Amino acid sequence: MRYSAPPGTHDILPPALAADSAKRDWPDDIDKWHWLEGIFRNLCGLYGYEEVRTPVFEQTDLFKRAVGEGTDIVSKETYDFIDRGNRSMTLRPEGTAPALRAYLQHRLYIDRPVCKLYYVSSIYRYERKQKGRYREHHQVGIEVLGAAGPDIDAEVIALATSFFTRLGITRLTLKLNSVGTTESREKYVEALRSYAEPLLSEMSEDNQRRFQENALRMLDSKSPRDQELLSDAPLLTDYLDDESRRHFEELQGYLTGLGIDYELDPRLVRGFDYYTRTAFEIQSPDVGSQSALAGGGRYDKLVKELGGPPTPGIGFGLGIERALIALQTAGIAVPEPPGLMALLCPLGARARSACVHLVAQMRAANMMTDMVYSGRKLNDMLEQADKRRARYALIVGDDEIEDGVVQVRDMRTKQQVAVSIAHVAETLRGAGASGGAEADEEG
Ligand code: HAM
Repeated sequence: MRYSAPPGTHDILPPALAADSAKRDWPDDIDKWHWLEGIFRNLCGLYGYEEVRTPVFEQTDLFKRAVGEGTDIVSKETYDFIDRGNRSMTLRPEGTAPALRAYLQHRLYIDRPVCKLYYVSSIYRYERKQKGRYREHHQVGIEVLGAAGPDIDAEVIALATSFFTRLGITRLTLKLNSVGTTESREKYVEALRSYAEPLLSEMSEDNQRRFQENALRMLDSKSPRDQELLSDAPLLTDYLDDESRRHFEELQGYLTGLGIDYELDPRLVRGFDYYTRTAFEIQSPDVGSQSALAGGGRYDKLVKELGGPPTPGIGFGLGIERALIALQTAGIAVPEPPGLMALLCPLGARARSACVHLVAQMRAANMMTDMVYSGRKLNDMLEQADKRRARYALIVGDDEIEDGVVQVRDMRTKQQVAVSIAHVAETLRGAGASGGAEADEEG
């Protein structure tokens, strides 16, 4: 029996093992993930956001209430299970509801009247898998609680767009819409239902169900026929209340002022029931058919819906896999992290025991060092040093032990010099600090 990762899930691997990742459609090189997450964390720090980490599963009811029972995500895609205490639990299908649950549970609003949170989370949705769409994917995201104005909407959108700028991804479109308030949307949904009713028999079964249960969600349909039938449907933006309209116009003013390009998309409703007013999506042509790199919006009723005090909120989620695919498609190089400073290559038992001490010394001196723990042939060890991108291979055999030295091999120049074992660490540190020159002062 050979096991493999469940369908729609993937392993993320050290880069040498992910060597052929350029050929795969899954970005499995862990160094790229670290790089991307590092940029996100730095940016969040710069903007004054603080990290939260929440459990991978929550009570099922949290998502039903927050995301909405009529949404595809909750009605078709959640991973639900009954735990051994007979409670219904769900693997998080998104990051907003868990962040808000934590915000309320720990009453973060007491210390942070405007609470700016970020997260890096795995997310679970039982979707039909294809390139850019997985059953386990990962999001970086932010949520701001307690600020109602369009100025914070502009900040949230600016953080998302500057993240992509820092990654080097420039082929992007920011789609923007306002979905109004619950009340203005009710009027719109009435108009949408009157429009759709005579066309229902031609629509997909899903949309016929949505018509009954949650008519706004008809606009989420991915069926081309449904989309065509809905192409002349009334537009949400024509039903906005005055306050939502003003909010939307001010937001556009801020974005223009910040030099952020956007396109208005009156059909953008996104697949969640919690949105009010601002909704946005950042799309890219570089991920195949899954074009959304990030999506978010305002949710002014959600905190109250989850049992908290009335508190406005806004945030976004951004798919890490899709961002990495977009980078790869656009041919953008990701900087490589530093390799090992040294790989110790002991030849024989005496050398091995000397190396145990040397490797400890080098690490204590803060140098990234490893030792070959199995393998006897020097060539194999040098090949390992190459793969680990080691700056130096330190070769120790019986002769070296006798003489109290190690052979320091510069992996770039292939030059080798003997250095006293007592001084290796300081010699290499000097060489590294001066840009990695010769290590030949000692002999
Ligand atoms: P979402 O649009 O469902 O929003 O997901 C955010 C991003 O996650 C998408 O733009 C996409 O890049 C990525 N994504 C979604 N599903 C998959 C999948 N199956 N495979 C790979 N990547 C995927 C939310 O989840 C909201 N919670 C965002 C939000 C935060 N709204 C307000 N605050």
